[in-house]
Amino acid sequence: MKKNNIVLYAAIAGLALLWFVCSAYAQDEIKLLKNDSFIDRERPGAVFSHTLHADKAGIDCLACHHIYKNGENVWDDSAETECAECHKVESGGKTMPLMKAFHTNCKGCHEKENKGPLTCGECHPK
Ligand code: HEC
Ligand code: HEC
Ligand code: HEC
Ligand code: HEC
Repeated sequence: MKKNNIVLYAAIAGLALLWFVCSAYAQDEIKLLKNDSFIDRERPGAVFSHTLHADKAGIDCLACHHIYKNGENVWDDSAETECAECHKVESGGKTMPLMKAFHTNCKGCHEKENKGPLTCGECHPK
């Protein structure tokens, strides 16, 4: 009986710790992309769960993040992540403009995988 209680308390303590760690982690999680580079916005920000994509759906980091060197994607997790660092709102010619870079990446995959939203209002809800 006593032994069972100890096991029970240990289990409760474990769950409490897990909840604490998960909620602390969830606060940092990206849930919305609203890029400051777009000054006169036409749409609200776009819903995007980094955890859903990178962890739950198990998508390779390199499907979204890149640094191209000699045509090869050499990105690793110490590298630049901010799309707007390289893709500007008004493109200077060579690099894809920012909105197109996002749309091509997001919609391109949803179309290919036949999963995830494709209409404006699903990604940019009012
Ligand atoms: C489905 C696309 C996608 C996948 C897969 C993905 N990311 Fe991201 N990631 C993004 C986007 C979009 C941003 C936000 C970029 C911005 O604001 O310009 C981001 C931001 C980040 C950031 C900076 C913000 C933060 O949360 O600290 C890091 C670090 C990061 N990603 C690492 C990773 C790693 C590591 C993986 C693989 C395990 C990964 N990403 C997989 C799309 C993705
Ligand atoms: C270090 C600079 C850099 C960063 C950061 C960056 N890109 Fe790119 N991206 C490039 C270059 C260079 C190209 C190739 C030239 C082009 O097509 O614009 C490219 C190409 C693309 C393309 C065309 C398809 C492809 O992969 O070649 C898409 C879509 C794209 N980027 C989306 C994104 C998104 C979304 C992010 C943020 C998660 C991002 N990029 C971050 C530099 C960058
Ligand atoms: C490489 C593939 C890939 C890329 C890139 C990608 N997605 Fe997704 N997305 C998915 C898949 C797969 C699902 C379905 C996941 C599931 O339900 O398990 C999904 C689901 C979603 C959902 C629905 C989430 C839900 O709660 O059901 C939203 C919103 C979404 N994506 C937004 C985005 C945005 C915004 C971007 C670009 C920044 C993006 N996605 C880029 C593959 C991708
Ligand atoms: C799969 C998700 C997705 C879909 C579908 C989508 N967008 Fe976006 N859109 C994004 C992301 C991600 C960004 C960049 C993040 C942000 O909003 O700052 C963006 C940015 C924009 C921007 C630039 C910011 C602004 O408000 O001025 C406009 C305009 C826009 N989208 C319009 C549209 C329209 C119109 C449609 C439908 C034809 C559409 N989008 C469909 C994900 C999506």
